[in-house]
Amino acid sequence: MTKPIYILNGPNLNLLGQREPEIYGHQTLDGIEAACAETAKTAGYEIVFHQSNIEGEIVDQIQEAGAKGCGLIINPAAYTHTSIAIHDALKSVDVPSIEIHLSQPAKRESYRRLSFVSEAVTGTISGFGADSYDLGLHALINLLKT
Ligand code: DQA
Repeated sequence: MTKPIYILNGPNLNLLGQREPEIYGHQTLDGIEAACAETAKTAGYEIVFHQSNIEGEIVDQIQEAGAKGCGLIINPAAYTHTSIAIHDALKSVDVPSIEIHLSQPAKRESYRRLSFVSEAVTGTISGFGADSYDLGLHALINLLKT
């Protein structure tokens, strides 16, 4: 059986829909999960979808994705800009990984311009709102096919 695609979400993304909608849009994380499951199913994949506000739990989920998944998509949220632990976890797994963001961090506050994650992933997609997840999923599925 094909291994699942892991989709991991960092802190405060559980509040999508009500959190700064002018930046992050009105889509909820449950809505994003449902859309991802549908896209994946059409391509013959299942997803495992997690959200955590705790850095160490995200590290555990990345390790699980490396052991049990075929690839991973991660929106590390604020940990993008701070977490060497998440960077190291991504470097230690042997599956393709895509970093995604709803907003375009490069256009925002200067402290969002640094991503510790970008150096450790296969590629990055940002700035397309909830569509960033779908674009990331398509990119990952294309990578898995090659
Ligand atoms: C975010 C961008 C981060 O800078 C921010 O801390 C988030 C969300 C995004 O999806 O646009 O929480 O990752």
